[in-house]
Amino acid sequence: MNNITDFVVPWVKSAEPYSDKHMDVAWANPEIIRMMSNENLLTPSENVLQAIVEAARLGNLYPGSGPELRKKLGEAAGLTGEHVVLGNGSTDVINFVVHTFVSPGAEVVIPVPTFPMYEARVKVAGGTVVQVPMKPDFTWDIEMILKAVTPKTKLIFTCSPNNPTGNQFPLEDLKRILALGKPTFFDEAYYELENEVETRAPMILEYPHMMVNRTFSKAFGLAGLRIGYILCDPALASYFNRVRFPWNVSQIAIAAALAALDDKADQELKRKNVILGRETIAAEINKIPGFKALPSEGNFVLIDASALGEDSLTIRDRMAEKGIYIRPMSGHNMPMGFIRITVGTPEQNKLFIQTFKQYIRETREK
Ligand SMILES: Cc1ncc(COP(=O)(O)O)c(C=O)c1O
Repeated sequence: MNNITDFVVPWVKSAEPYSDKHMDVAWANPEIIRMMSNENLLTPSENVLQAIVEAARLGNLYPGSGPELRKKLGEAAGLTGEHVVLGNGSTDVINFVVHTFVSPGAEVVIPVPTFPMYEARVKVAGGTVVQVPMKPDFTWDIEMILKAVTPKTKLIFTCSPNNPTGNQFPLEDLKRILALGKPTFFDEAYYELENEVETRAPMILEYPHMMVNRTFSKAFGLAGLRIGYILCDPALASYFNRVRFPWNVSQIAIAAALAALDDKADQELKRKNVILGRETIAAEINKIPGFKALPSEGNFVLIDASALGEDSLTIRDRMAEKGIYIRPMSGHNMPMGFIRITVGTPEQNKLFIQTFKQYIRETREK
C-alpha cells in the first residue's frame, strides 16, 4: 500500500510549519505577560466593542468584500476603494500575494532578518527563497539585494518599519528596487507607529507593480479579529480577488475595523502607549553595561543580550519561568542572544525591565 505522505506535493512536504504553538501555550497560561508576538497589549475600545456586538446580531449573513471600509482605506492613502483588497489579517494578504506570483521553482528575494511568514508562505507555494542578510549594523545591503534579483525572481519582499529591527526601509533603496519592474511587496504593518508617520502607498500610482501591506493587528489592536489589507493597482487587485477566498474577512472584523478607524482618541492612546513604551524599554536596556537596544519605530524593541552568554531560547525559557514571554531571535536569521520584546502597558514594561535585570544578576552570579 502507498504511504499517504507520498501523495503530498514535495514543496509542502519539505516546508517547515510556521508554528502557532506558542500562542496555545500563552492562552493556556494567561498569567504570563505576552511580550512575544507584537500584539497591542491594550484591549479594544468601547466603541469597537459596541460595533462588534451590533455586527454579531447579523452573524447569520455572509459578509461581502467590505466596500465601505475599502473606500475609506483607499481614500485615506490618496487612492480609491478599487485599490484595496481585505485579508484575514495581513498574513492572509501575504498568502494570496505569494500564490498570485509564485509557482514551484520561482525565486523570491527576502532581506533578512524580517517577518518569517514571507519565507514560510513562499515555501508552501514551492518557491525558492533567496535570502539577503542585512549588514551587521542592521541596515539593508541594497547592492546585494539588487544582485540577488535574477530573471527567475517573481517577487521581492521589503518591510518598513522592519520586524524585528524596527528601522525604516530607505526611500532611495526602494526606488532602486522598483526600477527593476518586479512585483515588490512593501509591508507597512507598523507604519502608524512611526515617529513621523509617512506612508509610501501613493507611490503605487507611479509604480503599479508595488503593493503596500497594512494590518489592524498592531496600532489598532485588533489582532484577534484578523483583518489586514493590501493597497495596490486595481489590475493587481482583480487577480488577488481571484486567489483569495470569498468571505475571507468576517463582518465582525469589518465592523470593528470601521469603528477603530473612527475612534481617533483610542488611536492616539494606543500610539502614545507604544511610543513611550519603546523609548522607556530602550533607554533602560541601554543603561545596562554590555546590553544594547535598537531604536524602533514599531511596537517592539530588539535587544542584543549576547552579553549574557546564553542562547535566546534559554533566555526565553528563563524569562517565561519568571512570568514574561519574550521572542527569541536565534531562529530568525539572527546571532545567538538577540531577543525581541513587545511593548506592553507602562506597568508591564517596568516589570519586564525589573525581571530582566534580575535575570542578568542571577546569570552573572552563576
Ligand atoms: C511585518 C509584519 N507583517 C505582517 C504581520 C501579520 O500581521 P496580521 O496577520 O496579524 O495582520 C506581522 C505580525 O507580526 C508583521 O510583523
